[in-house]
Amino acid sequence: MFNKLIRKNEKKINIHLDERKENAQKEQLPSHIAIIMDGNGRWAKKRSLPRIAGHHEGMKTVKKITLFANEVGIDTLTLYAFSTENWKRPKMEVEFLMRLPEEFLGTYLPELIEQNVQVRMMGNHDMLPEHTKRAIYKAMDETAQNDGLILNFAMNYGSRDEIVQAVKRIAKQIEQKEILEDEITEELLTNNLMTKDLSEPDLLIRTSGEVRLSNFMLWQLAYTEFWFTDTLWPDFDEACLLEAIESYQKRNRRYGGLKGEEVN
Ligand code: FPP
Repeated sequence: MFNKLIRKNEKKINIHLDERKENAQKEQLPSHIAIIMDGNGRWAKKRSLPRIAGHHEGMKTVKKITLFANEVGIDTLTLYAFSTENWKRPKMEVEFLMRLPEEFLGTYLPELIEQNVQVRMMGNHDMLPEHTKRAIYKAMDETAQNDGLILNFAMNYGSRDEIVQAVKRIAKQIEQKEILEDEITEELLTNNLMTKDLSEPDLLIRTSGEVRLSNFMLWQLAYTEFWFTDTLWPDFDEACLLEAIESYQKRNRRYGGLKGEEVN
């Protein structure tokens, strides 16, 4: 009897979710969502499990949220999977995190291909282990022709490092007289970042109750709407993503200007 009741309840929740999804699709969707996936360690600790168990569960959330974002009609999903500062973590945890792309893509790549997802990566590739790069490059290669959701992993990514690299490239162009100092514009810097082929995020989500950017897309987030939740990343689900999107759709984006009736 209880099982029947649970099934009935699940069905009700799913109908509710479908309705919310359809309603969200009627309004302007954020084209690019960026997520700081935080709280894996705390999720594991609450269950007396090692931190890596939290990362493993977090990997399953990545799959769930990727497919759902694609289904909703989001164009780009950027996920902060490993920062340039995360090397400071215990060796065993770093090694586990570096194995996750392999496991994730080894398990889910066929489904991502079937769902028309394009896998990409931004970050400093040089320091990544060969096996991590191999898995990601293979996925990038095999999904390059797809035109559905762009799943952009930030791996060994740090925004300050990204900006420094861009500035160095521009300085070199000036030194080699390819451009003049006067030609340095916001657009030029934007076009020298790792996100040059992507739109700027419309919505940033950070899970686990932390309210900071942690060196993530500092330039690109200048006019992004932020949404924070106490939910830990492994517990983040479709309903949470819809809640963030619904909140975004209520915002009044003015980009520093005024809108319509506010002008007078
Ligand atoms: C931060 O939580 C999370 C990370 C540093 C790693 C995020 C990685 C994943 C969610 C999996 C990525 C999956 C793929 C396929 C690359 P934390 O460990 O700092 O949590 P805490 O603040 O609770 O300790």
